[in-house]
Amino acid sequence: MSLSRLAQRRLIIVTGKGGVGKTTVTAALAQHYASQGRRVLAAEIVPSADTPSQLALALGCARPDEEPALMQPNLWVALVTPTSGHHRFLRDSLPIKLLADTAMRSQALKKFLSAAPGFSDMGVMYRMLDLMRRPNPAGGHAFEIVLLDSPATGHALALAQIPEFLIRVIPGGPIRRVAEEGLAVLTDPRITGTIVVTLPETLPITEALELQQGLLKHRLPVTTIVVNRVPKNPFSAVEHAALVTLLGERTAPVLGSRELRRIERAESALELLKERAPADSVVLAEVEGAGSVATKNLLPLL
Ligand SMILES: Nc1ncnc2c1ncn2[C@@H]1O[C@H](COP(=O)(O)OP(=O)(O)OP(=O)(O)O)[C@@H](O)[C@H]1O
Ligand SMILES: [Mg+2]
Repeated sequence: MSLSRLAQRRLIIVTGKGGVGKTTVTAALAQHYASQGRRVLAAEIVPSADTPSQLALALGCARPDEEPALMQPNLWVALVTPTSGHHRFLRDSLPIKLLADTAMRSQALKKFLSAAPGFSDMGVMYRMLDLMRRPNPAGGHAFEIVLLDSPATGHALALAQIPEFLIRVIPGGPIRRVAEEGLAVLTDPRITGTIVVTLPETLPITEALELQQGLLKHRLPVTTIVVNRVPKNPFSAVEHAALVTLLGERTAPVLGSRELRRIERAESALELLKERAPADSVVLAEVEGAGSVATKNLLPLL
């Protein structure tokens, strides 16, 4: 299945509209790959280190911070903030490490870096590269798979655009080198894959297809569309037809008829996806429970 093929990539970016299940899918995939013996880092992009972690909730683990921590066997969790990337970048680029620490204590510099267009995304991108580069003392990379949980706004698109933007405006020097490295990593289908999560309704599917086009335009390899929370259909085609006739004869609302409509809408949305999606798609069922419960229930579906 396409999700196990995805595991050959080192960076998996999970994206999509707000509330569709990005964090849940990230958590479920992270636990899935970790249970297969891969060293996995599940990283959540947040604006600042004091943002509550939805990923920790979905994984049922302690609150992470900016430094990756081993939370479950083979599974590290971290918050990725623009500031952690800026700090790391300055430490790597300035000849004296202490200078970077001092610089990052400056409120004025922090404000400038978060306000200047593109610098916040550049921080996230640098931190992502930094975490991917991190060596394992026993050889190879510390994290074989980095799963990046993006926030509600089209962050994967911003990540896709930022290296191109920086390369356009910065003629040389360390920032341009970061942008070139970022572009090389993000656009290489052997390294990076993106997952667009969506819901089984016509509008979310159309938006997911648009997001997919946007990612492809910036050469980000779109690997899979995950249609999440697909309602179970307990009826055969014959039963369904009989039910529709029966319900059509009723004037008063019948319990369960709304659910039947939802099942029908989900089926036509999946049809639409089949017709129009150039990438693979995976269907995840609606499961009982929320947060970590949903993640555990989703694991067998992957
Ligand atoms: N397949 C599923 N079945 C049942 N509940 C689910 C499923 N997937 C996600 N949920 C629930 O839906 C809610 C939203 O999911 P989640 O937080 O993963 O979305 P998100 O896309 O990360 O949201 P945000 O854009 O706010 O970051 C959560 O309460 C989660 O437990
Ligand atoms: Mg989320």
